Amino acid sequence: MGEKDLATGITRSVLIEAVSGLKGDFPLPGDKSISHRSALFAAIGDGESRIANYSTARDCQSTLDCLEALGVEVKRGPDLVRVKGVGLRGLQRSEAMLDAGNSGSTIRMLSGILAGQPFVTRITGDESIQRRPMKRVIDPLRLMGAQIEARDGNFAPLEITGGGLRAIDYTPPVASAQVKSCVLLAGLFAEGTTVVREKTPTRNHTEAMLRECGADFECQSTDDGEVLAVTGGRSLRALGDYQVAGDLSSAAFFLGAALITEGSSIRLRHIGINPSRLALVEVLRQMGGDVGIADPRIAHGEPVADLTAGWSRLEGDHELSGATIANLIDEIPILAVIATQLHGTLSIREARELRVKESDRIRAIVDNLRRMGISIEEFEDGFRMSGPQQLRGGKIDSHGDHRIAMSFAVAGLIAEGETRIDGAEAASVSLPEFYGLLGSMGAGVREIG
Ligand code: S3P
Repeated sequence: MGEKDLATGITRSVLIEAVSGLKGDFPLPGDKSISHRSALFAAIGDGESRIANYSTARDCQSTLDCLEALGVEVKRGPDLVRVKGVGLRGLQRSEAMLDAGNSGSTIRMLSGILAGQPFVTRITGDESIQRRPMKRVIDPLRLMGAQIEARDGNFAPLEITGGGLRAIDYTPPVASAQVKSCVLLAGLFAEGTTVVREKTPTRNHTEAMLRECGADFECQSTDDGEVLAVTGGRSLRALGDYQVAGDLSSAAFFLGAALITEGSSIRLRHIGINPSRLALVEVLRQMGGDVGIADPRIAHGEPVADLTAGWSRLEGDHELSGATIANLIDEIPILAVIATQLHGTLSIREARELRVKESDRIRAIVDNLRRMGISIEEFEDGFRMSGPQQLRGGKIDSHGDHRIAMSFAVAGLIAEGETRIDGAEAASVSLPEFYGLLGSMGAGVREIG
């Protein structure tokens, strides 16, 4: 399967055939969330950072593109991304509008840095980005003193006039690591100590990186959640030689494939297992899934391990809501596919955020599962289904969403008849190697142009 073709956007559809006995033992490209942050912190640090296993995701290239437009020297090699940090005050104004592509992390987190710059920046992204809410970062940045213009007050393109920020004490109204990170990044440029109070914990890679770079940063766990405090003005050290842990959210598709495809067993090497991302593994284990964590270790303040998985009988009734949802928000599409094989019920509630991801993911999951013959109930904030149910091959619409494309390619592995994924090239937004790796495990994956 020509994964390169997908990376260049030439391929539009792939056909997936049912298989059994998937086998694989491989590492995965670096975690998307950590890669974005490594590039952002490297750019505003003092000195050079050499980042190994930087994500191959198109999203993470968008972050590098934006940083280059802001005058940061970036060298992209096959094994290493080198970023020459310009320090807290060294970014330069870009005449051109910055393009975040499909990446919510890029536009939202970079906005925090842009709010700290004494110049005007315009930033936008693709069609999906222009539909996603930005008010959640505009509000706190305005409170800090930035001027921000947005279409209808909520949507990209954004025009950010930064500089002269003051610290705030902020409780984000949505559980969002992007919002939390945006405010903390802006806090690095603000006068005083910026506090973010997080009621529902979200992924904490920004916090790990603040420590890694020697920021003036403190984190306290209270009965009411996490209290994060960053004091502005202290320069950051470069990351030096930094290796990004493999992407757990990408690993989820292969774990899912192994769990539901008879006779499978796989090992994924050096994958990030940060507890703020591990709920999927915990839920799969509660279902009776044979998912192993081997050789756990810490690298650059981030826990990593090898992950193993094998075909399993999945059981029980599982209702997921609240803090669990924030922890596995990106894995819900593949969890829905896995749950078609559950001897029991999966209910997802309080997951409204899914409606404002790269696509309306509740709609995309329900629509595509129904196309494959699955009976599923849709709620405003989630869905419910009982299984096991037989998946039937069909025509899947990726909705231009990478995680939908990859989840339904996995569904195709156990469907009766062929499954056609239209808009399959979306996978390259987070994992351009996806179809190639699936093929290498023994799956029948065919490109049909
Ligand atoms: C991300 C946070 C999550 C997640 C996204 C990546 C991050 O979004 O869905 O894929 O890197 O901080 P929200 O913070 O908006 O929930």
